[in-house]
Amino acid sequence: MRLSWSPRIQIVRTSRRYSDPIRSRRHLRSHIVSERSLHSHVVLVAGGTGVLGSLIAEELDRRGARLVIGGRNPDRLNSVTAKLSDAVSCHLDFLDVASVERAIALTIERFGRLDGLVNAAGVVAFGPLEELNGETLRDLLAVDLVGPLDLIRAALPHLDEGFVVNLPGVVAEQPVGNMAGYSAAKAGLSAASVALNRELRRRRITILDARPPHTETGLAGRAISGTAPSFPEGLPPARVAHRIVEGIVAGERQLPAEAFQS
Ligand SMILES: NC(=O)c1ccc[n+]([C@@H]2O[C@H](COP(=O)([O-])OP(=O)(O)OC[C@H]3O[C@@H](n4cnc5c(N)ncnc54)[C@H](OP(=O)(O)O)[C@@H]3O)[C@@H](O)[C@H]2O)c1
Repeated sequence: MRLSWSPRIQIVRTSRRYSDPIRSRRHLRSHIVSERSLHSHVVLVAGGTGVLGSLIAEELDRRGARLVIGGRNPDRLNSVTAKLSDAVSCHLDFLDVASVERAIALTIERFGRLDGLVNAAGVVAFGPLEELNGETLRDLLAVDLVGPLDLIRAALPHLDEGFVVNLPGVVAEQPVGNMAGYSAAKAGLSAASVALNRELRRRRITILDARPPHTETGLAGRAISGTAPSFPEGLPPARVAHRIVEGIVAGERQLPAEAFQS
């Protein structure tokens, strides 16, 4: 039996008062959202060895989720999984579609179900497009766009009433010069989130498109090509991870950059 939607309801932003009782009821109804319980839910976190991925995993763990941590580095996989109460790790490389399919198969084999996916893997490249090596451009698009879609595609047979988090970041809203490949991949992923929400609505699958601004994870220092410009101080990663998990629980489909500012 699926456990996806808890009967609990949450009423948000009800401070405005209406004297007209019919308008008032309508107003309340439009602000009532179902709250998703994560207890015992099985969530696969791709890029679970990264800064945002591991913080999201820890927050999901605190809310009772069972986790599969996907990544490439065995030491980092072990150290992230060791902090979680009910978790396994698996090799997952977005440049290798067979590893994506194996990650889903392992999740089903280990837990018998899959309720959510978090796409927190990603790489970045800087510099003018003409200076970007063709192979690097393909890797960038493979990890930031094709890989997340491969993972969703492989998960869909198991995911009714579940959720997916994509993490395109603010560049999907405001593409940046000298980051054309990264901006294109992330804008494409954001467009796919909108399309999939339409496609999967009847199956009650929620795609959360999270577009946080620059966050202090050190990602820019691990660029696969080029050197990062100096960015203003970014957001604390724990705040971004917390807001994303709140979005999952509330069943939100969009977290624009401004949603991370308060
Ligand atoms: N930091 C920001 O300012 C920011 C803002 C908005 C959105 N985002 C997005 O948030 C996500 C997480 O980024 P982060 O800042 O937490 O960076 P991070 O700490 O560097 O994490 C990146 C993750 O991607 C994984 N990865 C890299 N190449 C991979 C591949 N070929 N296949 C599978 N996994 C791969 C890494 O795993 P390995 O252990 O295998 O290397 C790591 O777990 C990314 O999609 C990023 O674009 C970041």
